[in-house]
Amino acid sequence: MSHPLFDISGRTALVTGSSRGIGLSLARGLAEAGCTVVLNGRDAGRLERAAAGLPGTVHTSAFDVTDGPSVRAGLADVEDRVGPLDILVNNAGIQLRAPLLEFADSDWHRVLDANVTSAFLVGREAARGMTARGHGKIVNICSLQSEVARPGIAPYAAAKGALKMLTSAIVPVRDAESAFALAADRSRSCKVLLDFGG
Ligand SMILES: NC(=O)c1ccc[n+]([C@@H]2O[C@H](COP(=O)([O-])OP(=O)(O)OC[C@H]3O[C@@H](n4cnc5c(N)ncnc54)[C@H](OP(=O)(O)O)[C@@H]3O)[C@@H](O)[C@H]2O)c1
Repeated sequence: MSHPLFDISGRTALVTGSSRGIGLSLARGLAEAGCTVVLNGRDAGRLERAAAGLPGTVHTSAFDVTDGPSVRAGLADVEDRVGPLDILVNNAGIQLRAPLLEFADSDWHRVLDANVTSAFLVGREAARGMTARGHGKIVNICSLQSEVARPGIAPYAAAKGALKMLTSAIVPVRDAESAFALAADRSRSCKVLLDFGG
């Protein structure tokens, strides 16, 4: 495959929450640039159908990014079947809208788990191998709500704000000079990039 902007042939990327929406578009872009791509979501059938529509080498891995044991098993399975991960895109997320007083405890936990705990769980697991190999990239998909809050989405705004700070917090101290975070303004707020030195 070829891409007008860049070539990442030979690299392997996992995109969480890529059975549809933004994640699937990001996976398509990576595949068009020559990357081997692993699609993730919870529905194996939906992932297979999504993979069939992408170019290049595409694998699927169905696991719940909010569940620690599933994440550990999923990452181990991906690296065993497909190979070491060069790129992780933490894209999976959900939105729930309601007036503040109508949110249930379970709503709060669902939104926080899907949007920020997931990035910690999957990012930590991927970073184990990346750190040992000395290179790798983790991209966390934030939101305008990482910067400003709108009414009706308090858990989501809290989660996306936390995701931005998690991204800053997990930059390895020894790699601080080669790490950079892009989250400062609206045009760049959806792409927070950590460079582990690769
Ligand atoms: N849409 C926007 O306007 C917008 C704006 C700014 C930022 N974002 C962010 O961009 C990302 C993608 O948004 P989107 O609108 O494209 O979402 P979407 O269309 O609803 O797709 C969400 C994806 O995440 C997967 N997913 C959800 N929960 C999961 C879990 N627990 N484990 C594994 N996979 C899970 C879904 O698959 P299954 O349901 O099959 O598991 C699906 O593939 C999110 O982080 C969102 O916050 C979106």
